[in-house]
This record gives sequence, C-alpha cells and structure tokens, in this order.
Amino acid sequence: MATFGERIANFFGGTDTETQEGLRGLFITELKDIYYAEKQAVDALGEQADASTTDEVRNAFLQHQEETRNHVARLEQVFSSIGVDVEEGSCDAIDGLVDDAQRVVSNTDSGSLTRDAGLIMAGQKIEHHEIASYGSVVTFAQVLGYNQAARLLEQTLNEEKNADKKLTTLAESFINSRASSEENNSHRNDDNADNFEDNLVKPDGVRYDSSVTPGNTLGSTYSGNASTPFAGTSGI
Ligand SMILES: [Fe+2]
Repeated sequence: MATFGERIANFFGGTDTETQEGLRGLFITELKDIYYAEKQAVDALGEQADASTTDEVRNAFLQHQEETRNHVARLEQVFSSIGVDVEEGSCDAIDGLVDDAQRVVSNTDSGSLTRDAGLIMAGQKIEHHEIASYGSVVTFAQVLGYNQAARLLEQTLNEEKNADKKLTTLAESFINSRASSEENNSHRNDDNADNFEDNLVKPDGVRYDSSVTPGNTLGSTYSGNASTPFAGTSGI
C-alpha cells in the first residue's frame, strides 16, 4: 500500500497506482472534451450570427467564430506537443448550452432586440464554460511541465475572456435598454420613455454608455465571478 506522499507524487507524475488514473490522464481526457466542445462552438456561433438582429451582435459572433476555428487548430498543436493523437471526446455541458441558445432563437421574434439580448446571454454561458475548462487545463499543463501546451492553452483562455468581455460591453451599451423597451412599449405611450438612439452602437465600434445600466459595474476582465449583464434589468 503506497503512502499518501507516494500517491501524491505518483499522481503528479502521471500515474496514480491506486486508480490507474493520474493527472496526465485527466488532462488528456479534458483536452479531448474541450476539442469536441470547440468544434460544436464553431457551428453554434455560425447559427447565432445568422439569427442575430443587429450587425454588432452578428459581427461579435462571427469574429469569435474565426477565433474558435483557431482554438481548434491550437488544440491540435497541444495534442501534438505532448505526443498524443488528436481525438474528440464528449461534453454534455456544451451540448446543453448549444440547445439553450437554439431555444432562445425559437422563443424570440426574428428581428427583435430581445433576440439579441437572449443570444448574448446564451453566448456568455458558453464562454464561461470554456473559461472554466481552459483555466483548469492551463494549470494541469503547468503542473505536468508541458510548457508549450500551457502557453498555447493560455492564449486561448485569454481570447475566451476577451470574447466574454466584448459580449458584456455589447450588452451594457445598448441591448438592455432596447430590449426592455420592446416589452414596455406595449404598455405605455411615452415619447420620452426611452431615448434609444443615444444608446445605440455606432457602426465604427462599440460605444459604452454608463447610463444604460446604472450600478452594473462589470469588471473589465473575468475574475472568476459570473458576470451577469442582464441581472437586475427588466423586460428580458
Ligand atoms: Fe469561446
């Protein structure tokens, strides 16, 4: 019977003799699952772009779809760097999150800003899942001494964080106000109720208007806490 110290040493060395499964095995299994998830994300981002109402949201999804294709290629480099054949695993989480995004589309009107609000929400759920997954495998790679793999995975982790941040900025800049008004317009006739045009994003880039979501001060970088751009808003 191995001592606890020996088990820990074996685990980090890649072989837990008690379970036949060490950190290296867990790392490779997770890489395969992320590889599967990224491939699903490429298709889902295309569907989300097609379903988007505004150019701003559509472009955000298309841009991240391109990045996600790079994430797939980068994972293939990671497999190669550790001498493991590229293989897809499975991921119930991404399957469920993609289903949720499709449900947003079927439950909202085409051309509505509520559609975009829902798509951003669904997109951020996917990003947060990816951030959690990549955060873990970066740490595993570092512990296992796979320095090249750790660097590659960290690049992707940072791009996932940036994608999440862009979606938050988009949401804060105009979606909340606009989607809320679509609900409220059917209940009131107040010419000054919402000055939407002031909050719209211009074609040359995202313009953040801090007055849109008072009190909602989402961080500029992901810090491990869920960012919920729609929290506290009404009409969504
Ligand atoms: Fe992503």
